[in-house]
Amino acid sequence: MARIIGGLTTSHIPSIGNATPREDQLRDDPYWSPFFSGYDKAREWLDHAKPDVAVVIYNDHGLNFFLDAMPTFAIGAAAEYRNADEGWGIPTIPPFRGDQELSWHLINSLVADEFDITMCQEMLVDHGFTVPMSLFWKNNSYGNVRTIPVCINTVQHPNPTPARCYKLGQAIGRAIESWDEDVRVVILGTGGMSHQLDGERAGFINKKFDLMCMDKIVNEPEVLAKLSTHELVRQAGAQGSEFILWLAMRGALSGKVTKVHSNYHIAISNTATGLMVLENAA
Ligand code: DHB
Ligand code: FE
Repeated sequence: MARIIGGLTTSHIPSIGNATPREDQLRDDPYWSPFFSGYDKAREWLDHAKPDVAVVIYNDHGLNFFLDAMPTFAIGAAAEYRNADEGWGIPTIPPFRGDQELSWHLINSLVADEFDITMCQEMLVDHGFTVPMSLFWKNNSYGNVRTIPVCINTVQHPNPTPARCYKLGQAIGRAIESWDEDVRVVILGTGGMSHQLDGERAGFINKKFDLMCMDKIVNEPEVLAKLSTHELVRQAGAQGSEFILWLAMRGALSGKVTKVHSNYHIAISNTATGLMVLENAA
């Protein structure tokens, strides 16, 4: 049977996508060093964990979906996913392998479980997906990992609530664990932490709230799932609402969850960055 071996979270700021090709040179750079050094332990964990599949829960920021038609939940069912420059000047990186059979199993299970999914047989993936993959798989060494993009709207209100995203994650967990193939699956939740890119509160960061979230998400995620959308925006900033992607990831971990590693750093660009490695024991 398929097994969910853990969950990973990371911020996905576009400027990281421009920095990753120069990571080795930037290791001594005071701006980048406290950020990149956090990823060594995560990569070590991945080297041992050896996932076959990565389910990447992210948000599209206007590359594949735009304001004219914005699905709440969309899942990729393609053989391959490519990125393109959505306007941040991020380099195009090698395509990502899909897993069509597991994608369709996931879509079928979720619809049966009353989640109405937009199914995408073609899908471009933006920085919300590519930056985390490049961070966890250094030098874009993700060629042996099959990926399933799970895209959640955080761009145009109404966003799905934290509770709804947590429940979606639980349904994703049930679907994967009912898949009759011996694959090791890791779940990524990307985005966050507190940030607001525009408006009166541009530059807003809330360290106290972020650290509370990183603490509670390990063993008390239900507390965070009770936040309303407005309370989350108030506490984390307009774009900090991306934290619902972390909650969806956490919902999929149904076993005994332990924190292997975390790193928190203010700031890259306008954003507080958070990295977590959560192990999910059967
Ligand atoms: C930034 C952060 C994001 O999450 C994003 O999607 C785009 C930009 C930033 O801090 O620059
Ligand atoms: Fe974002």
